[in-house]
Formats: sequence, structure tokens, C-alpha cells
Amino acid sequence: MKRNTDFNQLLEESRQGEVLLLENEKPQARKLYLESYGCAMNFSDSEIVASIMNEDGFSTTNDINEADVIFLNTCAIRDNAETRIWARLRDFKSAKKNNPDLIIGVLGCMAERLKTKLLEEQKLVDLVVGPDAYRDLPNLIQRVESGQKAVNVLLSREETYAEISPVRLGGNGISAFISIMRGCDNMCSFCVVPFTRGRERSRDPESIITEAKDLINDGYREVTLLGQNVDSYNWNEEVNFAQLLEKVALINPELRIRFSTSHPKDMTDEVLYTMAKYDNICNYIHLPVQSGSSRVLEMMNRGYDREWYKNRIDTIKSIMPDCGISTDTISGFCSETEEEHLDTLSLMEYAGYDFAYMFIYSERPGTLAARQYPDDIPNEIKSRRLQEIITLQLKLSMESNKKDLGKIHKVLAESISKRSKEHLSGRNDQNKVVIFPKENFMPGDYVNVLVDDCTSATLLGKAIK
Ligand code: SAH
Ligand code: SF4
Ligand code: F3S
Repeated sequence: MKRNTDFNQLLEESRQGEVLLLENEKPQARKLYLESYGCAMNFSDSEIVASIMNEDGFSTTNDINEADVIFLNTCAIRDNAETRIWARLRDFKSAKKNNPDLIIGVLGCMAERLKTKLLEEQKLVDLVVGPDAYRDLPNLIQRVESGQKAVNVLLSREETYAEISPVRLGGNGISAFISIMRGCDNMCSFCVVPFTRGRERSRDPESIITEAKDLINDGYREVTLLGQNVDSYNWNEEVNFAQLLEKVALINPELRIRFSTSHPKDMTDEVLYTMAKYDNICNYIHLPVQSGSSRVLEMMNRGYDREWYKNRIDTIKSIMPDCGISTDTISGFCSETEEEHLDTLSLMEYAGYDFAYMFIYSERPGTLAARQYPDDIPNEIKSRRLQEIITLQLKLSMESNKKDLGKIHKVLAESISKRSKEHLSGRNDQNKVVIFPKENFMPGDYVNVLVDDCTSATLLGKAIK
């Protein structure tokens, strides 16, 4: 049963509704309560928002009652992500009644998707700001204070917030995200991201390297380079993703490097060889497959078929036999047959994923799929297919973890384990969570752990001298 709970969490957005507090912020008179939803890019954006707001006279709070401003940084990827935000907004009604000066803002992808429609909801929302308009927040706040509603949902072809140094929020002080690009040009037919985040643009590599150096000077030991499709990173035809990875790897051998998300159609062998060449680039790739059927992949406009994907998996394993691989799947996409669902299961077996985020198809207004194909798979069938995918992934994760028993893993300790003060939690190169007795180790230490037990979600072991 316990294992099932671990996996049920994967059905949700990876993180949701976390309240973020600034580290080392300037104390300010006014208070911002900032709640974030959705993917890592959104959490990374919240750090930029907090930084801009801190300059404008706000420090963060985790107490709604003392907030002058409440921001929800939202996600629009599936319908349930938005349902949750509507419910959250209703929660704020009484806070607004008690304090009529309270400013409530909706930021991020749902703001971009719904625009002024958000203002219509019971006159609760004062401010709507899309992902490329955060520099305008101080002006928008002023406008609200003068009694108007304020909206800025302009998307940009250039904005990367390159030189805004994000204040780190609510992290563990050990691992941090660095956005290396924004937007997406891919137009997968099911996906709302190109509409909410606009055109793809890459960030200046120098500013990325400066940010990574600052992080290591502040005691951080791991950075995750973020983009919707990191393989298409391209700075002025001069620096591609493999070259950027190399530049970041060379900063300091003690700094671990991860990245997400790789796209099967764009992931190059050059990236794989660069990963293999540098010890501090983690051998782990998140390579979302979405479906194992070539016909469905074509309808999804993913730009690869089943054979191509299998070849990518084969190539990863030949260049890095120990590479961790994870995926995303969508069950019940328009017209998916039973046989095509079985194709997804068999491709999962083929890849032997260590981990997966597994979703039910949710039609998003305005996307290519919503315009072209009926959402015709009944919910019960979608759910049953998802359940079969989860059951298989549990088995695959367990098999993968059992292969790690009896081996020594280099683990970066990140924090005290949530379940026991006497244990540390960290991750190995392959991104698997490893729990071990704390002894005299501290978060930030690299520890060699001999793994002797596991669940499908976690490795358990003990440090060796
Ligand atoms: N850029 C990444 C994905 C970002 S969205 C990539 O291309 O892989 C994260 C995941 O959400 C996707 O991989 C997909 O599995 C899922 N997803 C996106 N749109 C969805 C939809 N309309 N319904 C269900 N799942 C969806
Ligand atoms: Fe969406 Fe596809 Fe872009 Fe990923 S690559 S963000 S799934 S459009
Ligand atoms: Fe959600 Fe926007 Fe990320 S839609 S998944 S927060 S890019």
C-alpha cells in the first residue's frame, strides 16, 4: 500500500501550492505571500518574481494574514491544475473581506491563457501577469493601488530575465534551478505551453555561468539547467546545448549538473558524449515518450516515431550503460486504441524506465488537438489505461532499484530525511533518492553509500568509510 501512495503522488503536478520564502532577503515593510504551482520552470520564475518584488519594497511571508499582496504563480497544463487555482482563489475571499486593501494577483501560465477572464471571477483578482511581464510588476502594483485592475500578458521574443539574479526560495541550499531558455516552438498537439510561454529563446551563456558560479560560492552543490526542450538551446549559432553543458561542467568538479527536459527528436549524441566525458554531469535523462504508438505520436506532432525513440534509448545505453532514464506518458489521447495503449506498455518495458510521470489526457482549449481531434476516449478507459501504466512502472522501478542493491553509490546529501531526524536524504547520479543514517555527515557532503534495501521509490543504505 505504501508504495502505491508514493506513486499516486506522481499523478499530481510535480509540486503544487508550495509557499516560498526568500533566503537572505532585504527586510522590507510590506509582505508578499507567494504560492507556486506547476513545473520547475514556474518555481524558477517565482524566484525572479520574488527578487523583483524584494527590490520594490516587499519581503516574503508564509502567513496569509499578514500579507499585503498574495500571488499565485499558476499552471495550465491540465484541467485539474486550473480547477485547483479557482478553488484556491475562493479560499482568499474572507482574507479580502477582512482586508479590502489586500492585492490578489494571478501570475504564470493560467494568467497567460485566461487573461482578463480572470478578472471576472467575483471581482476577487486585481492583477493578471503573464510569464514574460514580471519586470512590469512594480508598475502594475502601483496601478492597482490607484484603484484600477492591472493586466500585462504580453509575450516577448527576447525576455530571458538574464541579468536578474533570482533570490533562492525555500530550497535546501544545496540544489538550485537555472533557467537556460524560455518558451517552446514545438507545438505538440496536446500542449498548452507554446501558448502560455510563447516563442523559444535561449539565455546568454555568460549569465548562466555567472549564476552557477554565484551558487557554488553560496554553498550550492548541484544545478539543474531548465528548459522545455534543452536540446534546442542555441545561443547565436555559437553555443549549443552540449557546449553549454561542458562550460558549466568545467566551472568546478564539485558542482553537479542536471538538466531537464530532453526531447527525443532533438537529443544529440554530442550531448550524450559530453555527459559521459564529465563525471560531474549526472548520468540521468528525462526523455518523455508520451506514447509508444507511432500513429499516436504522429497525431501528437511529436516529431519522432517508436523506432526513433527506441534508437535513442539504445544509444543512451551504449554510451552510458548506467544512465538513469525517466519519462512522461499520456493515457487516452484522442482515438488511442487498446492496441496502441499496449504499444506504450511494451515500449516502457523496452526502455526499462527508472521513474515516470504518468498522466491522463486532458483537452486544452486552443491547442491543435482540441481543434482537430475529438476527445473521444471515455474517462473510465483513460483511468484504467493509466492504472495499467502505473502498475507496470511500479514493477520497472522495483526491478531497477533491486539492481542497485549491494552497490556503492555516490550520493549528494541534500537534507534531513522527512521520516527520520537520524537519516539524511540525497540522490545518486541516476537521480534516485537514497536514505542513509546521518552519522556525522551534513547536507552538501558527497557520501559513498552501500545500498542494501529498497522500495520502488527509494534506495536505503549506509555510508562506507
Ligand atoms: N517540454 C516537456 C513537457 C512539458 S509538460 C516535453 O516536451 O517533454 C510536462 C508533461 O505534461 C508532458 O510531458 C506531458 O506528458 C504532460 N502533458 C502536457 N500536456 C498535457 C495534456 N493536455 N494532458 C495530459 N498531460 C499533458
Ligand atoms: Fe509542450 Fe511539446 Fe513544447 Fe514539451 S515540447 S512544452 S510537450 S509543446
Ligand atoms: Fe504548467 Fe506552465 Fe509549467 S503550464 S507545466 S507551469 S510551463
